[in-house]
Amino acid sequence: MTQHDVIVIGAGATGLTAAWRLHQAGSDVLVLEARDRVGGRLRTDVVTTEGDPASFEVGGQWVSPDQDALLALLDELGIATYPRHRDGACVYVGRDGEPRSFDADLPVSAATRAAIDQLVKVLDTLSDEMDPARPWAMPGAERLDQVSFRAWLEENCDDAEACDNVALFVGPAMLTKPAHSFSALQAVLMAASAGGFSNLVDADFILDRRVVGGLQSVPLELARRLGDRVRVGQDVTAVEWTADGAVVHVGGERHAARRVLVAVPPTVVRRIRFAPELPAEHRMAREHQSFGLVIKVQAMYAEPFWRQDGLSGTGFGPYLDLHEVYDNTPEGEPRGVLVGFVSDVRADALARLSEDERRTRILESVATYFGARARHPLAYIESDWHHQELTGGAYGTSFDLGGLTRYGHVMRAPVGPIEFGSSDVAGLGFQHVDGAVRVGGELADVVLRST
Ligand code: FDA
Repeated sequence: MTQHDVIVIGAGATGLTAAWRLHQAGSDVLVLEARDRVGGRLRTDVVTTEGDPASFEVGGQWVSPDQDALLALLDELGIATYPRHRDGACVYVGRDGEPRSFDADLPVSAATRAAIDQLVKVLDTLSDEMDPARPWAMPGAERLDQVSFRAWLEENCDDAEACDNVALFVGPAMLTKPAHSFSALQAVLMAASAGGFSNLVDADFILDRRVVGGLQSVPLELARRLGDRVRVGQDVTAVEWTADGAVVHVGGERHAARRVLVAVPPTVVRRIRFAPELPAEHRMAREHQSFGLVIKVQAMYAEPFWRQDGLSGTGFGPYLDLHEVYDNTPEGEPRGVLVGFVSDVRADALARLSEDERRTRILESVATYFGARARHPLAYIESDWHHQELTGGAYGTSFDLGGLTRYGHVMRAPVGPIEFGSSDVAGLGFQHVDGAVRVGGELADVVLRST
């Protein structure tokens, strides 16, 4: 049996940040990762098309200006960023299915525009009243947690297209769940975690920059620096604990430590057997969290043809299979790449189709935004997180109605020598890599303060 100060379960951005901070402070740390690679929901793949390799972000990829924990870590690791391509007009496809290009304001009626502005104003005010680290403590939290975001929108606005668009930004586009399935409080948390609702609806802000070499460079570089303290292919199946420490089981091996950090998504904690069992409230709390579902799709073309048409590659269509689409061409890549997302109930429906049927349906949606050339990509890639037991969806997990006020405070509560955390329980940066970096740093601080 090996002996360590701290064992970290999970080599995603959370676990590796925690391990790196502990290692820097002189702790003997061991990171155990079940997959055969580090990075968790960050994965940058290289795909070769007609002899030319190109890199594709299969998981998380964008960085926004408020994400200062991630930006500082990128700086520390010497990893550069570049701006997302955004020159040109955007496209909006409304209820009539017709693509309309626009520069600043969505091409909807003046009444719908005013209704959207009013909703954004109210949500900005609510988000200002919330500390994202303690969303359950904001004034009126209980009421907001009892009503679905969809119902809340309809209570506050009688313009259906305005509701559909505002629902889109939090539902399909962020939590990747239909807006009737999560609470208004959860929606306000999404906004507060990004510094306000106006930031969420501003694609130029929230999808500001990309990372040279891909965002998986962050966990890869952290793991490189940690060296043989990180072990992959180590699926932790059990943790035996007392007040003084724990023994972690992987296959036939055992590793002991004074502290254990469980840095995996809340829904995946249940794969590990704890002895003694975790308090019932811990199990209940995680039963009320679930992953959203989004299929991230990328299509590569011989050239970024939409730019020749004066388009940026950004498109929104609350009534289409692909509710949002962006130019995802990596810096320096002569070919053009579009990325789009199929979310929640639409993803359910498309996931039931054969691969060929799904591809045809999705490319038809791309063609609605950018014309017939979109139907014939050189390469087509779908991300498959919902098929993976060690993740189980995308982008992250959120509570069902009432769950945040009932159980939110449990998610970060320690049990004996065990701490829990991932981007799913972050305040600032909730569900984002920035949140993972923050939570990782906080987990390390908790351990260091108590030693
Ligand atoms: P994560 O899930 O990454 O890591 C947990 C690790 O624990 C995994 O490696 C897993 O294998 C391991 N594990 C689980 N059980 C284990 C066990 N029993 N034993 C050992 N190991 C175990 N964010 C962002 O900032 N910008 C973006 O553009 C996007 N976009 C995006 C797109 C897609 C498709 C996805 C899936 C996600 C995003 N995200 C994102 C979200 C972002 O990727 C995510 O919030 C963080 O990467 C989560 O990092 P964590 O370390 O918290 O969990």
